[in-house]
Amino acid sequence: MVVGSGNPDADLMFVGEAPGATEDETGVPFVGRAGQLLDSLLEGIGLSRDQVFIANVLKCRPPGNRDPQAAEIEACQGYLAEQVSLVRPRLVCTLGNFATKLISGSPDGISTVHGVVQQVEFAGVPFTLYPVFHPAAALYTRAMLGTLQDDFARIPELIGTSAPVAVAAAPAAADDASSQMGLF
Ligand code: URA
Repeated sequence: MVVGSGNPDADLMFVGEAPGATEDETGVPFVGRAGQLLDSLLEGIGLSRDQVFIANVLKCRPPGNRDPQAAEIEACQGYLAEQVSLVRPRLVCTLGNFATKLISGSPDGISTVHGVVQQVEFAGVPFTLYPVFHPAAALYTRAMLGTLQDDFARIPELIGTSAPVAVAAAPAAADDASSQMGLF
């Protein structure tokens, strides 16, 4: 399993698609060629991996790197939801189609929505969603690199303008009924 890596207190979270071969071997997301490009895109905006949190829609490598299947996305969704609710990012940058569609809850593809800022809620956590192309796309289509760099260039400003996540109200004191129901 490749669960996620980075700073659990990060304001910025990246969500990719699924581990590839190198990630499968190391247990760390985005360490292959697409990951090296992600590192350099981050460096280009003055950030490093240890300042952000990185996860994927799928936690296991699909055989032969095929596209994630609906049942796999559903099986892994609870893990991503738990990660979002633990990290509570202000800005979530989805990398490519699968993460964008899952987190936006919309069928609109990445070619249409890349660079479009949206306010969304996922796993009960409100945040700013900023979809960009998957870095692997720029490995195959060189012209895509400029688009990715342009979209990344707006990230620092977006981290600054994204509303801080409201601090949850302190839980009410446990009463007997609640504790008997196993809620506490
Ligand atoms: N591509 C992804 O979407 N995730 C990874 O972890 C590596 C490559």
